[in-house]
Amino acid sequence: MNVRIKTPEEIAKMRVAGRLAAEVLEMIAPHVQPGITTGALNDICHRYITEEQDAIPAPLNYHGFPKSICTSVNHVICHGIPDENKILKKGDVVNIDITVIKDGYHGDTSKMFYVGEPSILARRLTEFTRDALYAAIALVKPGARISEIGQLIQKMADKERFSVVQEYCGHGIGQVFHEDPQILHYDGYTPRSDLVLAPGMCFTIEPMINAGKRHCRLLKDGWTVVTKDHSLSAQWEHTLLVTETGVEVLTRRSEEPF
Ligand code: MF3
Ligand code: CO
Ligand code: CO
Repeated sequence: MNVRIKTPEEIAKMRVAGRLAAEVLEMIAPHVQPGITTGALNDICHRYITEEQDAIPAPLNYHGFPKSICTSVNHVICHGIPDENKILKKGDVVNIDITVIKDGYHGDTSKMFYVGEPSILARRLTEFTRDALYAAIALVKPGARISEIGQLIQKMADKERFSVVQEYCGHGIGQVFHEDPQILHYDGYTPRSDLVLAPGMCFTIEPMINAGKRHCRLLKDGWTVVTKDHSLSAQWEHTLLVTETGVEVLTRRSEEPF
């Protein structure tokens, strides 16, 4: 494992990239309404990132990804491709995942949006997933082990009889979009693969939680990941910095408590 410790100069750039990514989610919120297409949401974000922020949307052309953001609706777990023909309707829930590159550094964050009023289950799953992310963030400090993150999220999900997706993980982040360490959201570490956190590490936590079984399926487009049983799925993501005393949420939005 090759975990990079960021220098003070790099941390300053990570803070800027993180803030810009958070601001895209704040900007797009009022646009997420019944009748809009996920393609239109992509275009609004693309224009904002490139024209207002003078930044780069990291997903565009990343390993061939065709759009600038990911939009994952209802039973889509992650990596949903924005589509001019996919109209959001009342009762949908959608994850919008934003990654920007500014001055060579990445900021990566996502949240769930309700389109009109959600079902009781959709609200419960969405709020649970956010609270699991927040609880995991609260564990992050020097000396903690990354294994504690997945253990906590798994324990919380088991209690609600929700399931944790295992195929996709959080990740180190910096000049590289996805770098070491991998952050599992389930209880899957061995003593050999575990890691003690230290100041200057930057990584994401981005749990994907299903209302049904944990298993997923990749669609023929090569990107869209859906629940095998078609159950609802939710995801929230933040980019974090381990500080001397705890954690800084680099992609914090103004509505958030940390
Ligand atoms: N933003 C996603 C993550 O959280 C990665 C998207 S890669 C893409 O790691 F190519 F699908 F956009
Ligand atoms: Co990520
Ligand atoms: Co992301």
